[in-house]
Amino acid sequence: MGIKRGVFVILGLLMMANLAMAADGDDEKILTKTVKGKKLCTQGWECRVWSTYCCNETISKVFQVYQFEDLFSKRNTPVAKAVGFWDYQSFIIATTLFQHLGFGTTGGKLMQMKEIAAFLGHVGAKTSCGYGVATGGPLAWGLCYNREMSPMQSYCDDYYKLTYPCSPGADYYGRGALPIYWNYNYGAAGDALKVNLLEHPEYIEQNATLAFQAAIWRWMTPIKKSQPSAHDVFVGNWKPTKNDTLSKRTPGFGATMNLLYGDSICGKGDIDEMNVIISHYQYYLDLLGVSREQAGPHEMLTCAEQEPFNPPTPAVPAQSSS
Ligand SMILES: *[C@@H]1O[C@H](CO)[C@@H](O)[C@H](O)[C@H]1NC(C)=O
Ligand SMILES: *[C@@H]1O[C@H](CO)[C@@H](O)[C@H](O)[C@H]1NC(C)=O
Ligand SMILES: *[C@@H]1O[C@H](CO)[C@@H](O)[C@H](O)[C@H]1NC(C)=O
Repeated sequence: MGIKRGVFVILGLLMMANLAMAADGDDEKILTKTVKGKKLCTQGWECRVWSTYCCNETISKVFQVYQFEDLFSKRNTPVAKAVGFWDYQSFIIATTLFQHLGFGTTGGKLMQMKEIAAFLGHVGAKTSCGYGVATGGPLAWGLCYNREMSPMQSYCDDYYKLTYPCSPGADYYGRGALPIYWNYNYGAAGDALKVNLLEHPEYIEQNATLAFQAAIWRWMTPIKKSQPSAHDVFVGNWKPTKNDTLSKRTPGFGATMNLLYGDSICGKGDIDEMNVIISHYQYYLDLLGVSREQAGPHEMLTCAEQEPFNPPTPAVPAQSSS
């Protein structure tokens, strides 16, 4: 009896040790090397390309599933329009294409959380259905849509018939987390993500990972070669020229709206279409426990007085997905 019990105790201890090791294995190890005096890292599946950004905490460490659920608490209620579509895992998987480039991994924990709130603030505002069904407040309804509900046209621009020809029968209405419209935007996003979105724009409304990937790609990529990306102006990678300063284009959240929506919402004073995006950003900062003051002074938040980046090219029309 005594011997048997002893064996079981030992077996039990061994099993516990195994579990502890498995848990350690899940906690991704940071591998480090130095190239030309620069420290580079990888961090498991989430940040797996050698880069200085992968030395910092990964997104899933600073932004966890309960926070995603808090931000998008109404998305699976019966009146929502994409029930069961959006989830945390799709978001995190989508970020793995961009974390080594600095998305959500730049500048330390506070900047990381601010960038996630800013990016998702744009997403929440563009996918909200909170204006007719405002239980929980209008800001609780982000990720309600994953597509434009009643498109009035097929968004095929023949000007791009050589580079991004429309596929017969395909419609390029708004889809995704930062809705993409028009054949040329589907074409460009598809090129970048190596998915044939020109022939299959519907993939975006069928696959939440892809929908988030396309949105993060838009955030990370300049629309014009001469312009910074929304990411760059937000995290401080961009230095305004004299012209930028004269045109009141200051680095910060306001400039991200300027880059993404241009003169459709910027330089028009304090209009609702702009304020609703700012409100989502601030609401998400609140939910993440980041003080609104950390978003900087009013002129950084808004683009009310900014002249559009030149030439103004709104990538995503400001119309909502409803
Ligand atoms: C990583 O985080 C630290 C602060 O924790 C920050 O100073 C540094 O700039 C970050 N690295 C990069 C590449 O942004
Ligand atoms: C969704 O898209 C991602 C990214 O392109 C891809 O890896 C994945 O296989 C897709 N999922 C399905 C079910 O097609
Ligand atoms: C600065 O702005 C002026 C007036 O809008 C324009 O003519 C000039 O080309 C700009 N300079 C640069 C370097 O963009």
